[in-house]
Amino acid sequence: MILLTGATGKTGGAAADALIEMGVPFRALVRDAEKAAALKEAGVDLIVGDAADPEAVRKAMEGVDRVALILPNSQEQEALEMQFVDIATAAGVKHLVKLSSLEALPEATSPIPALHWRVEEHIRASGLDWTMIRPNFFMDNLLGYGFSIKNEGSFALPMGDGVTVMMDCKDIGLAIATVLAGAGHAGRSYNLSGPELLSFHDVASQFGEVLGKPIEYLNVDPTAYREIIAPFLTSDWHADAVMHLFSEVVDGVVPPKVTTTFKELTGQDPTSFRQFVQNHIELYG
Ligand SMILES: NC(=O)c1ccc[n+]([C@@H]2O[C@H](COP(=O)([O-])OP(=O)(O)OC[C@H]3O[C@@H](n4cnc5c(N)ncnc54)[C@H](OP(=O)(O)O)[C@@H]3O)[C@@H](O)[C@H]2O)c1
Repeated sequence: MILLTGATGKTGGAAADALIEMGVPFRALVRDAEKAAALKEAGVDLIVGDAADPEAVRKAMEGVDRVALILPNSQEQEALEMQFVDIATAAGVKHLVKLSSLEALPEATSPIPALHWRVEEHIRASGLDWTMIRPNFFMDNLLGYGFSIKNEGSFALPMGDGVTVMMDCKDIGLAIATVLAGAGHAGRSYNLSGPELLSFHDVASQFGEVLGKPIEYLNVDPTAYREIIAPFLTSDWHADAVMHLFSEVVDGVVPPKVTTTFKELTGQDPTSFRQFVQNHIELYG
């Protein structure tokens, strides 16, 4: 049996959709049964509980041999993920798939990549088989700009001339599902990327091409941007961590590279940003 976490979120939700599409049965640990109603309808075995509750995690892992660890950023993420790994090891799970990030490197000092690296190291030392899924910036981060793109013809981010190899969460979910359902992925770190290197000026141009009107990228001051996003994040730690990560994009601290890993893994081409905009045309157009 497979256990998926984060199944009501962006990447975990996409992994769930891909597993359902493949006809692979799985269990999901969810916090809110109502939010997961469609999963239940699709026949997914739901366990309602919080990753912070060791009993709920233990229960979710009964009879499970493969797990996907997908949790959102917060000051608690590292402790929650470490605990999850320890419970998986004690429960006799064989293979753990972790959603990490491309910037998670031994020398990382930015809080989010650094915590991902420490959890990766803990997993590698656990004795479990493991696979790391390491994407860069999510295209889906731009779904929150639907209103401003549609109504104001612009989007604001403090990214300067920084570049990413942004990727559609649908593709990341497919990669996770492919690893969970397949064989030969133990001990592999998959650095995933979208099909091209894009600055946010390029992103604006591609929005404009698909929408048929000019879209402006407003390169906002980081302090002003932090004030806007902070109320939507879990804590000051979280807001500072996001701003630190964004400043590293601006400075090119971890230069992103286009990889062929997604195609090798899934046999499919990664979704282009133009296609992503087209897929969400009702939001933006
Ligand atoms: N955004 C990016 O550009 C980017 C790039 C690379 C890597 N990443 C990594 O991607 C991860 C986030 O993935 P995502 O964006 O798919 O997440 P997301 O959309 O925020 O979804 C988070 C999921 O985790 C669940 N969850 C949250 N806290 C939980 C808890 N205590 N116990 C059980 N479930 C819990 C949520 O459930 P509810 O529905 O109940 O809230 C939801 O299903 C982070 O680790 C981040 O570092 C992000």
